[in-house]
Amino acid sequence: MKILVTGAAGRLGSKLLTVLAASGHEVIGADIVGDNVSRLDIGDFEATRDFVDNLRPDAIIHPAAWTDVDGCAKDPEKAIAINGFGTQHVALAAANIGASVLYISSNEVFDGIAGRAYREYDITNPINPYGYSKWVGERSLVNINPKHYIVRTAWLFAHGGKNFIQAILNAAQAGKRLRVVSDEIGNPTYNDDLAEAISKLIITGRYGIYHFVNEGACSRYEFARYFLNKAGFKDTPAEKISAAEWPRASLPPAYASMTNLAGKHIGITLRPWQEAVDDFLAKEGLTQ
Ligand SMILES: NC(=O)c1ccc[n+]([C@@H]2O[C@H](COP(=O)([O-])OP(=O)(O)OC[C@H]3O[C@@H](n4cnc5c(N)ncnc54)[C@H](OP(=O)(O)O)[C@@H]3O)[C@@H](O)[C@H]2O)c1
Repeated sequence: MKILVTGAAGRLGSKLLTVLAASGHEVIGADIVGDNVSRLDIGDFEATRDFVDNLRPDAIIHPAAWTDVDGCAKDPEKAIAINGFGTQHVALAAANIGASVLYISSNEVFDGIAGRAYREYDITNPINPYGYSKWVGERSLVNINPKHYIVRTAWLFAHGGKNFIQAILNAAQAGKRLRVVSDEIGNPTYNDDLAEAISKLIITGRYGIYHFVNEGACSRYEFARYFLNKAGFKDTPAEKISAAEWPRASLPPAYASMTNLAGKHIGITLRPWQEAVDDFLAKEGLTQ
């Protein structure tokens, strides 16, 4: 297949370029900035339509987004412009040439009050501007292009760039006091596993909503304790705090873990998060 990847300089986008090329696809990466990718601002409708029209891909995988969750809370209009209407532009451009779209969405489209893991067709109800903007992206795609996959994911950790694991390990290394939220529940998800799952899904034509997260849920604290122990910081204390004690611009959904029913139905599953973390740490040379 000929596949366009938006946000190709980002964490997931750049991994997708490698994984899809290794599967034999013709892959073109585009981003607003970045090396070795074409320039494309998905916030610009005409530019997006013309780019897609010239390229004529069979499918567009669309992870491009403004992913600064707290930034989105401070500037909700910008969040909608990129994450919501940017996705509308991609959906229209793809529909114009008959291409499918695989959109990367988030567990933050849920309100986190169900007290159980969310399934793919549960009612969405975002409670912060980032979640709302990703939800607008979902709705736009569903309304415009019937050939769509919506892949919701959560708590990504990736090699390179910013991630929760490196931030906590760096703080532990520096001897800083560790305080980690214990009442926010989610699914830690390895960027590499997600890219592999997406590469399996894009060739199926089984359009719909998917929850691609590593199996199992935990609190931020349990996640941190797990990789601290594995990385040689077993004796380093970490204090459990509530989300209220970690003030931030965006209010995260409290219990927004998800379950992967739709992927399992077609044979696409992700391993337990603990195995994925072990693999990540080993590849980073961080296992003690
Ligand atoms: N990271 C997570 O924990 C997480 C959790 C759930 C869902 N997701 C979703 O997963 C997807 C991939 O996340 P990620 O962690 O790979 O994010 P990322 O590293 O921030 O990658 C997103 C890329 O999109 C680019 N971009 C921003 N505005 C753009 C525009 N107007 N036109 C074209 N490209 C633009 C970004 O450029 P700049 O860096 O210059 O802004 C960046 O290169 C996103 O859709 C995100 O919402 C992520």
